[in-house]
Amino acid sequence: MIFSKRVSGLQESATLKINAIANQLKLEGKTIINLTAGEPDFPAFDEAKKAVIEALEKNLSKYTPTPGVPELRELVAKKTNLQQPSLGAKPWKPSDVMVTNGGKQALFDVILTLIDQGDEVLIPAPFWLSYPEMVKVAEGVSVYIPSTFESHYKINSTDLKKSITPQTKMLIINSPCNPTGATYSKSELQDLGKVLESFPKIWIVSDEIYDRIDYTSEGWISFLEACPQLRDRTITVNGMSKSGAMTGWRVGWSVSPESVTSKLNALQGHSTSGICSLSQAAAIATLKLPPERFEVQRKEYLNRRNLALELLRKSAKIRVDEPHGAFYFFIDLSGVFVGNKTEQDANDFVQALLKDEQVAVVSGVDFGAPKCIRISFATDLKTLLSGCQKIVDYCEKF
Ligand SMILES: Cc1ncc(COP(=O)(O)O)c(C=O)c1O
Repeated sequence: MIFSKRVSGLQESATLKINAIANQLKLEGKTIINLTAGEPDFPAFDEAKKAVIEALEKNLSKYTPTPGVPELRELVAKKTNLQQPSLGAKPWKPSDVMVTNGGKQALFDVILTLIDQGDEVLIPAPFWLSYPEMVKVAEGVSVYIPSTFESHYKINSTDLKKSITPQTKMLIINSPCNPTGATYSKSELQDLGKVLESFPKIWIVSDEIYDRIDYTSEGWISFLEACPQLRDRTITVNGMSKSGAMTGWRVGWSVSPESVTSKLNALQGHSTSGICSLSQAAAIATLKLPPERFEVQRKEYLNRRNLALELLRKSAKIRVDEPHGAFYFFIDLSGVFVGNKTEQDANDFVQALLKDEQVAVVSGVDFGAPKCIRISFATDLKTLLSGCQKIVDYCEKF
């Protein structure tokens, strides 16, 4: 075996796999309706672009401090404190912030820093497909907590309690959730928090990357705002990819107790160092924008969600819950896999849909939901509605 045990079990991302097939078909001259995107279809804000140009002109081309430039760390601490006012006398300081190459690196570094061989990491399912792969690299064990269409793809305190063992070291919570759009309310988070109070060895990682893309009537809530008593063992992860429409600029961060941040700093210092100086300038400019500037995108996603949902619900064969955050529909195809098709899973459906109808969607297999598919509505309305209509029609004949 030439590869380390650490990487030999790693899976290629399902999203990237289907994208590669869609691109190949495009090269062959086919017109593909691509509903796989895990990224906003908006451009970055003009202020962000201008900040990069200014940074270039000022020759900001040197290494930056490993955990990020002071102004950015300060803005991230400020944003997080605004979202977690219940922390009161123990707000976050800039020194608690670690700026990373996207939220992905923040999650990866946190898992590597806190998980040892055999440690169990609780992951509510369906889940973002990178979590288990990151846990694998850390030689930990992913323990999935199943949720259902009926529970709106959310876990409750009983589900959580049942999954905890003496080996449990971490819970990853992701609200709004990729792939389901499930978004936890304050009381739902508080119920989970009450259980966690009795298990002081469990770290909580709250992945809040979709914080601004929220359609709930009560408004999105940060985990620590609901459970401030868990401050000293919670790591909040966020970034500019989704809310700032800056996926390619790679700006994310973690906010954690200072003892954890200093280890993250050591790890990043020997791996990637501080992130791109120009991207940090863009993030500073974006974080300074008033909240209403982000509303334009949110309202557009909401409009698309409502119109596409109406269309998808015309099919009696599929079940789709209303997503309360992020920009995905998670569609249950169990009603399609009936009769002699019960052996089939979403991978079969996704490949057939792409081949027969030239519509690309992501299979739920790697998200821990083999009978589901994920559709992104981060695409223009015309493409979205035409793709959804084709999916509804295809489900009738599959
Ligand atoms: C749930 C979730 N967390 C984290 C990330 C990482 O985002 P990025 O590394 O682009 O900041 C993504 C990206 O798709 C995501 O969907």
